[in-house]
Amino acid sequence: MRVQSLDLANFRNYAALHFSPPGGVCVFIGDNAQGKSNLLEALSLLATGKSFRAARESDLIRAGTPLARVAARVGTKNGDVTASCLITRVGEGARKRFVRNGRTVAYAQFLGGIAAVTFMPSDLALVSGPPALRRRFLNAALSQADRTYYRDHAAYTKIVVQKNALLKAASGVERALLSTYNQQLAAVGSQLLCARARYVQRLSLSAAEVHARWVGATPGFSIRYAPSPALPAGDASPGAALAALERALEAALPAELVRKSALVGPHRDDVEFLLAGEPLGRFGSQGQQRTAVLAVKSAEYALLAAASGEPPLLLLDDVLSELDATRQRTFMSSIADCEQVFVTATEAPDAPTLGGAHVYEIVDGRVEASAHAKTG
Ligand SMILES: Nc1ncnc2c1ncn2[C@@H]1O[C@H](COP(=O)(O)OP(=O)(O)OP(=O)(O)O)[C@@H](O)[C@H]1O
Ligand SMILES: [Mg+2]
Repeated sequence: MRVQSLDLANFRNYAALHFSPPGGVCVFIGDNAQGKSNLLEALSLLATGKSFRAARESDLIRAGTPLARVAARVGTKNGDVTASCLITRVGEGARKRFVRNGRTVAYAQFLGGIAAVTFMPSDLALVSGPPALRRRFLNAALSQADRTYYRDHAAYTKIVVQKNALLKAASGVERALLSTYNQQLAAVGSQLLCARARYVQRLSLSAAEVHARWVGATPGFSIRYAPSPALPAGDASPGAALAALERALEAALPAELVRKSALVGPHRDDVEFLLAGEPLGRFGSQGQQRTAVLAVKSAEYALLAAASGEPPLLLLDDVLSELDATRQRTFMSSIADCEQVFVTATEAPDAPTLGGAHVYEIVDGRVEASAHAKTG
C-alpha cells in the first residue's frame, strides 16, 4: 500500500502539513528535534490507532492548541482508504476519535485499514529488554496479520485481569469461579500459544535468511519461542498446547493462591533472539543487536505482506545510525524495492547508499525538498 497524501494539523510540532509522498523510498533528513520521529509517529498512529511512544496522548496535540488531526489517503489493493484520527484535549488527558472513509468508527474497526511495520530506536530493547517488550511485539505483529488473534488476545487479557482480581479478593477466593477462569484461559490461551509458535517459527526462518544475506550465513541468527508453560517435546499442536496449559494451570494453583497472581500462561511467554545459538542480548554488540532487530522487522514485513496480500508501509526511524557504511548500504539496497518506505536520519547517507531514494529535509515541523538527491 502507499500513502498518497498526509495532512497534519496541530500534531506535535507540526502546525499544518500537507504532504504527498511518492512511492519507493523516502528519506527524511533533519537535525535533532525537527519533527522526523513525529512524522513517522503520525503515520503509525493511522495504522495502529496508538502512539508508538509510550507518551500521554495529550502530548500528541501541539502545545497551546486544543485539537490535533492526522489524516491520510492510502492506496490499497482494495481501493483508496481515507483514515483520520482526531485527538482532543479533555482536562489533563485527551480523547481520540477515529474516522474511516468518512465514517466515525470504533477503535477495533479502525484497525486493519492501513498496515505498517515500524522500526524505532527503542526497538533495540527487543533484544536485551524485559520479556514484556517481546510479547508486545508478538501481539502487535500477529494482531495486524490475523484478526482472530487480536480478538483472542483481547479476550485472554480480560480473563487474566479477572482472575488476578479474584486471587486478590479480600473475601476469599471462590474456587468454582477460579476453575471457570482457568478453563477459559486454557481454551483461549492455547489458541494464542499455537498462533505464536507458528508465527515465531516462520519469523525465525525469514529473519535468518535476511540476516544471512546481510552479514553472511555464520554466525546464524534464529528466534526461539519460549512459551509458558514449556511444551513437551516442543509439540505446539492445538491438542498438546491445550493439555499442557490445563496441566500447568492446575499445578500452579497452590502457588497462585499464595502469590495472589496468575503465574502461568501466554501472558508470561518469552521469545529468544540467538546468534550462533547464544542469546544475543547477553553478548551481542550494539551493531549486531541492531542488525538482528532489523532482520526481525524485515521478516515481520514479509510475513505481513504475505498474510494481507499486499506490502505494508515501512516506517524506519533513525535506522542507519550505529551501522557501519557496508551495513548501511546493504540495508538501504534491501528496502529499495519496497512499495513505500519512510526513513529518517540526522545525516544524509552518501549517494550510493541513497540509491534512487527521494530525499527531503525536515526543519522545525516543515517538510522541504532536499538538495541531496531527487524529490517528488
Ligand atoms: N505536543 C507538542 N507540541 C509542540 N512541540 C512538540 C510536541 N511534542 C513534541 N514536540 C517537539 O517536537 C520536536 C521534534 O520532535 P521529534 O521527536 O520529531 O524530533 P526528531 O527530528 O525525531 O529529533 P531526533 O533526531 O532528536 O530524534 C521536539 O522539539 C519536541 O519537543
Ligand atoms: Mg527522532
